[in-house]
Amino acid sequence: PHDVPVLCIDGPTASGKGTLADQVAQRLGYAVLDSGALYRATALAAQCAGVSLQDEERLASLAATLPLHFDGGRCFLDDEDVTDALRAEAVGQGASTVAALPKVRQALHQLQLSFRRVPGLVADGRDMGTAIFPDSELKVFLTASAAKRAERRHKQLMEKGFSANITGLLRDLEERDARDKNRSASPLKPAQDARLLDNSDLDIEASVNQVLTWWSEGRPFPG
Ligand code: CDP
Ligand code: CDP
Repeated sequence: PHDVPVLCIDGPTASGKGTLADQVAQRLGYAVLDSGALYRATALAAQCAGVSLQDEERLASLAATLPLHFDGGRCFLDDEDVTDALRAEAVGQGASTVAALPKVRQALHQLQLSFRRVPGLVADGRDMGTAIFPDSELKVFLTASAAKRAERRHKQLMEKGFSANITGLLRDLEERDARDKNRSASPLKPAQDARLLDNSDLDIEASVNQVLTWWSEGRPFPG
């Protein structure tokens, strides 16, 4: 369905992709794909089933049959609400380990494409613009300094009742960024035609407005 518009937001961890994607989607009346949740859910399902994070075959079959669904902003594995469990940093690390495996990425490809429905989609991840929706109208690569990202993640985790310290988070996010950038399967990098947005010193509203401006510049009519 290439007539369905897609706006991609890729970038490193805690750069604000999810927040930006949700708000832009709300303004445009579009659906959202949180592709990281699929890798996180695969890692969590593996942990629950006692599957090793090195076992590419079994991980790929878990990914292909994930009993995952989204409902009212919440995320469920079978009947269990895993929205908060998915956000734990250990699950993020596990996600980035399974995400380096080509068969896992392949197993999740079709599921991601299925989110592209009228009137449009905002897709958040690492490879939305480079691999999953290379024909999309707008690709944003969102970054912020590692220090700012660690600070933001810290605040966010504390608000959700997780314990965390900034030094540990900074180390974790640098480790995860390195793994995401250096893998051979769909590494984290801006698409050739991506617009770069560094929001180290931009608040959420200003970032949303910038993206909506780019979106409207690329399209003759609103929406
Ligand atoms: O999805 P991603 O990991 O890239 O980041 P996020 O979960 O959207 O954002 C991480 C945290 O940074 C959230 O608590 C956002 O509210 C916050 N944030 C911010 O304070 N200022 C920004 N310009 C962007 C995000
Ligand atoms: O919210 P945050 O940016 O920390 O992470 P996420 O977007 O939920 O993604 C978790 C992990 O899944 C990332 O560190 C990547 O390794 C992987 N991922 C990916 O490889 N490709 C995507 N499109 C989305 C996530």
